[in-house]
Amino acid sequence: MTKDEGFSLPRHIAVIMDGNGRWAQRRLLPRQAGHRAGLTAARRLIEACVQRGIGALTLFAFSSENWRRPQPEVGSLMGLFMNALESEIAELHKNKVRMRFIGAREQFSAALQQGMRESEELTAGNNGLVLNIAAGYGGRWDLLQAARRLVGEAVSGRLRVEELDEPQVSHALALAELPDPDLFIRTGGEQRISNFLLWNLAYTELYFTEVLWPDFDAAALEAALSWFAQRQRRFGRTPEQTRDADHA
Ligand code: IPE
Ligand code: IPE
Ligand code: MG
Repeated sequence: MTKDEGFSLPRHIAVIMDGNGRWAQRRLLPRQAGHRAGLTAARRLIEACVQRGIGALTLFAFSSENWRRPQPEVGSLMGLFMNALESEIAELHKNKVRMRFIGAREQFSAALQQGMRESEELTAGNNGLVLNIAAGYGGRWDLLQAARRLVGEAVSGRLRVEELDEPQVSHALALAELPDPDLFIRTGGEQRISNFLLWNLAYTELYFTEVLWPDFDAAALEAALSWFAQRQRRFGRTPEQTRDADHA
C-alpha cells in the first residue's frame, strides 16, 4: 500500500503499548522478556508508520505511575530504554524520523537524559515521521506544567488572563504545535486512558484491542486503520452536516 490508498489515514496516532507482562507470563518468561518483545513491536510499528507516511506517532513507553513498579522491573526498563536509544537512533535518523521525548525527564538518570537530548538534537532537522516517546509522562503532569508556565507568564505581565485561549493552552502542553491524535490505540484489553494525553484526546477516535502489545503486528495495525477509516468524525455537528462537508 502507498501513502494515498484511498481511505482516510490518521495524521497522528497515539498508542498505549500495554500487555508486555502478560505476554511474558503466558510463556512462563520473566516480565523483562515481555518488555524486550515490546520493543520489537514498537520498532515494527514505527517502520510501518514511516512507510505509510503517517505524520506523527506518540508512544506511551513509561507513565508517571510506572515508577511505582518494583525496583528490579523499573531498573530493567531503564536498561532497555538506554540500549534502545543507542541501538535504534541511527536507523531512525536514516528514515528521517524526528524524535521527541515528552515527560518529566529530570526523574531519569543523567545518562538517559543525555541520550534523550542527543537523539532529539541529531534528528531535529528531519522532516519525516514525528516520533514522540512519552516517558515519565502523565496527562496530569502535562496539564500542571502548562498551568505553571502560563501562570508564570500572567504574573510577569506577558499574558493577559482574559486573553488566554485554547490554542495557547495547547501550545503550553508537551505536544505543543502537533495536531491532536486522530486515532488512539490501546492494546492489552484494558479500556482506560491511564493518565495518557488528557487534553489532546478530546476528540480522538478510541480503539481498544485484546491483542497484547508484543503481538501487535502488521495485521493488527491494518485492523485498527480500517476501523478508523469507517468512523464518521462529527466534532459536534450532525451526520448530515458532516457528510456534506466530506463531499464539499
Ligand atoms: C506495558 O506493559 C509496558 C509498560 C507499562 C512499561 P505492562 O508491563 O503494563 O504489561 P501488563 O499490563 O502487566 O501485561
Ligand atoms: C499504561 O500501562 C502505561 C504504559 C503502557 C506505558 P499500565 O499497565 O501502566 O496501565 P494501568 O496501570 O494498568 O492502568
Ligand atoms: Mg499494563
